[in-house]
Amino acid sequence: MHKKLFIPGPVEVYPDVLKVMSTPMIGHRGGDYHKLHASIRPKLKELMHTQNDVFISTSSGTGVMEACIRNMVGKRSLSCVTGAFSERWFKIVGEAGKEGDALSVEWGKAVKPAEIDKALATGKYDTFCLVHNETSTGIMQNLEEIAPVLKKYPEIVWCLDTVSSMGGVKIEVDKFGVDVCLASSQKALAMPPGIAVFCASKKALARAATVKGRGHYFDFLAFKKSDEKDETPTTPAVTMFFVLDYQLGKMLQEGLENRYARHVKMAQYCRTWAQEKGLKLFPEKGYESVTLTAIDNVKNFDVAALNKELGNRGFTISDGYGQLKGKTFRIAHMGDTQLDELKQLLDHINDILKLK
Ligand SMILES: Cc1ncc(COP(=O)(O)O)c(C=O)c1O
Repeated sequence: MHKKLFIPGPVEVYPDVLKVMSTPMIGHRGGDYHKLHASIRPKLKELMHTQNDVFISTSSGTGVMEACIRNMVGKRSLSCVTGAFSERWFKIVGEAGKEGDALSVEWGKAVKPAEIDKALATGKYDTFCLVHNETSTGIMQNLEEIAPVLKKYPEIVWCLDTVSSMGGVKIEVDKFGVDVCLASSQKALAMPPGIAVFCASKKALARAATVKGRGHYFDFLAFKKSDEKDETPTTPAVTMFFVLDYQLGKMLQEGLENRYARHVKMAQYCRTWAQEKGLKLFPEKGYESVTLTAIDNVKNFDVAALNKELGNRGFTISDGYGQLKGKTFRIAHMGDTQLDELKQLLDHINDILKLK
């Protein structure tokens, strides 16, 4: 039996989207592909709320995280570390042979603008990396309060991971002044895994031109050069590009504002449910994610046993990530998931755990 996915990626992919995956193959250096590539571009810009160049990478999001470090860091980077994925991004800095520092907070907390300002004011950095929605802890950074800090440092390139929020939450790339913004297909975009999308500002592309050792596969300037011909530098996952074109069209048809509002409704419903059942939200108050709810397992439920029984009923949720395994559990409500489906899941959890 298929288990409906309420895990924070991959998320449930609806049958109409899966069907697009059986579109017959086309060559990636011909007219049909050029049309497909050109059709995706304006929709992706709309989704990202940007006029900057947009690109698609045949890799998961981590590929573009590494690309940010390889293409952007000339001097030194500052990475906010709030959980497992931001920690991964920080580790990549050293692995790529670059210099960088971490601005770390306790898991479950958000980094505050004043801390960022203090670190950037040292003048040591040319790159700033932030994970918007830390999927491991369920915290979501407030971009409205961080953007004004970054505006004070125009020489710094801002790289933003919106892997598990893009498509569920409004990310105003141009208004906030984000230079590189990236997202994976298998999260709030509600597609299968396999590709990542990103945009790059003029400042980011100009920086790349000054940075040596950008590598081959993820060279931003190669993406830019190929994009001018409606192509990608290497063979793209054409099947997933068909899906992206279709899925972006579907999102725009739903209306982005409606989509964001649906996500807020689901998040509010899930948080209220948890609190009414005597459970505690794991993230710091005011920084709870809109695309997933991380719940502090204060009642010491056996999360594995819960998930096993949910599985028998055709659903699955997520345990805590890494050091939070068993201590928290996570319910994702992102992508094409509807409130009624979330209600169904929570009814099953009430029944299994005998929550009143
Ligand atoms: C916030 C965040 N960043 C990065 C990643 C890594 O993305 P990918 O698995 O697409 O490489 C994930 C994956 O869950 C994530 O949640």
